[in-house]
Amino acid sequence: MKLVIATRNPHKLEEIHAIFNFQGLEVCSAFDFPHIPDVVEDGDTLEANAIKKAVEICQATGLPALADDSGLEVEALNGEPGVYSARWSGEGCTYADNNKKLLRELAGNPNRRARFRTVIALALPGEKPLTVEGSVQGRIIEELRGNQGFGYDPLFVPDGYNQTFAELPAEVKNKISHRARALNAASNVWTHFFQGLEK
Ligand code: IMP
Repeated sequence: MKLVIATRNPHKLEEIHAIFNFQGLEVCSAFDFPHIPDVVEDGDTLEANAIKKAVEICQATGLPALADDSGLEVEALNGEPGVYSARWSGEGCTYADNNKKLLRELAGNPNRRARFRTVIALALPGEKPLTVEGSVQGRIIEELRGNQGFGYDPLFVPDGYNQTFAELPAEVKNKISHRARALNAASNVWTHFFQGLEK
């Protein structure tokens, strides 16, 4: 039985494969269905976007689909950029543009608390989609550090560590990250779905 990971983000895909053991499922991604257009992520919440991606890819392929929608929620910015994390500094912006904006918005602000949050949705043909989530608390530092990971990783230091997600080895990020916690929740909560798919 196949499962489609509903993303064309190579960083995300790499992390999902490093974190999650799909127990013999034949796993593919949206890259394997180039004729399917990108899902427009116009929901107001991470939950809405995760469900939209999973459901649209499930309907377009006829296969079970799993989608991850993630964002950075900064306390002093009332939870921004949140669901708008990808295009925070405008359509077509880069990770570097968003990191510059984050440093600008927090300049001089002593409250650097933030968390990454991931919502994972699972859509099975003909069934109501389900979601689980995971998050990791930390703080935003004042300059970019590290070259690993992606997105806001060079500015985010998880609680209990001194290095950013872009400095920590991938094995460490993939143990404690929002995505790892959401995928762990998925494997605990949806055990019966994954076992059922294997038959
Ligand atoms: P989406 O889930 O693809 O909509 O991701 C939204 C945005 O959140 C990405 O473009 C990144 O800027 C940011 N993001 C998501 N996950 C991570 C992560 O693990 N590290 C750093 N930034 C992330």
